[in-house]
Amino acid sequence: MKRDYSEILKHVQGVVSDEKDIIANLGNVAAILKPLRGYFWIGFYRVSGDELILGPFQGPPACTRLKLGHGVCGTAWQNKETVIVPDVNAYAGHVPCNSNSKSEIALPIFNHDGNVAWILDVDSDQFDDFDQDDAIALEHIADIILHSESFAL
Ligand code: SME
Repeated sequence: MKRDYSEILKHVQGVVSDEKDIIANLGNVAAILKPLRGYFWIGFYRVSGDELILGPFQGPPACTRLKLGHGVCGTAWQNKETVIVPDVNAYAGHVPCNSNSKSEIALPIFNHDGNVAWILDVDSDQFDDFDQDDAIALEHIADIILHSESFAL
């Protein structure tokens, strides 16, 4: 495992259980995760009609709107599954927001009805920087958010 998420998961659980506003919580979750090694950008895109719209994030300014099925985020949304991209330059359809981004992971956060509500997206400034351990930890974080009071409101 390249990154130790154990303390992070506890921190996220604590922060999310203290506050009922989803935007405040996603902002704090992004801030908690950003210092992890290689995390160049982390943020949440909200599903709105046939687009993803940029929500709370940490890192440089990013693309504001993404399309269903396009790029890493749009593919995670369409297929309703985690996408790990070891080299963004080799990924057909990758939407480049910053040239420092080298690898990426994107995963859906589902509504209680099973539709995708948000995409959690993380970019690294290193190639091949995300693996199954990252996917499991980030899916756990998505699960904490889904089951928080803020998500139900
Ligand atoms: N590269 C992403 C777009 C979002 S940014 O990386 C912040 C994609 O292909 O969907």
